[in-house]
Amino acid sequence: MDKHELPYIQDMFESIAFRYDLLNRTLSLRQDITWRNKLVQTLNISQHAKILDVASGTGDVAMSIRNQFALTTIHCIDFSFNMLSLAQKKIKSPSNDLHIYTSCADAFDLPYPKMYFDAVTMAFGIRNVVKKERLLHSLFHHVKPGGQILILELTLPEMIVLKKMYLLYFKKLLPAIGQLVSKSNFAYTYLPESVISFPSSPAFSQMMRRSGFENVQWLPMTAGICTLFVGQRPLCL
Ligand SMILES: C[S@@+](CC[C@H](N)C(=O)[O-])C[C@H]1O[C@@H](n2cnc3c(N)ncnc32)[C@H](O)[C@@H]1O
Repeated sequence: MDKHELPYIQDMFESIAFRYDLLNRTLSLRQDITWRNKLVQTLNISQHAKILDVASGTGDVAMSIRNQFALTTIHCIDFSFNMLSLAQKKIKSPSNDLHIYTSCADAFDLPYPKMYFDAVTMAFGIRNVVKKERLLHSLFHHVKPGGQILILELTLPEMIVLKKMYLLYFKKLLPAIGQLVSKSNFAYTYLPESVISFPSSPAFSQMMRRSGFENVQWLPMTAGICTLFVGQRPLCL
């Protein structure tokens, strides 16, 4: 693991892995599926594209890509062995096996050549990374010129009243449900904290630009509780 990262993140995901999907569906009222599908619909790729899905977790982004772009090759990386083993179970079908690969690796230490991917995706992972800009910079080098980066992250609603109500749910109700189902005291207290401390959408977009991406745009979804960030590596080197 990158020595700058929070040491407990990996352990946390190892411990909640087996309840992760259930909690995602419950706590988001199944909106998480719609959000990932939107990310995949925004991919601007050819049928035979190579895609890197960073912080793949249990493989939901890869499965959504597989459903919408049947001939792409998808490389999934995550540093949680338990999360990835659940991804492998989902992927396990003869047709998927041919084109979806999984690696237990740190996002800061990618086992791929530079300029290898047509697109890089990352859903709900960058919030957990301390050195966000450093990671964006490293991902930039793995995207081909003209290729895309698509990042999905939980964010806070902009409307004040909505934000207050959401924070109430997020700080009180969500940790209680999360703790009950996942049996982890820490994970679902950490979740709201990590979302609250995530940069604003303009600030995060600026980080993407500083890392080299252009045409950076963000799309708030479900009243702004999730945001899709999209950028492109310039065609000229
Ligand atoms: C909230 S989950 C998201 C999983 C999946 N992308 C999804 O859409 O449900 C965050 C994932 O990021 C992984 N992760 C966090 N930091 C990482 C890092 N530095 N390198 C690799 N994986 C990381 C965790 O192990 C976890 O599986």
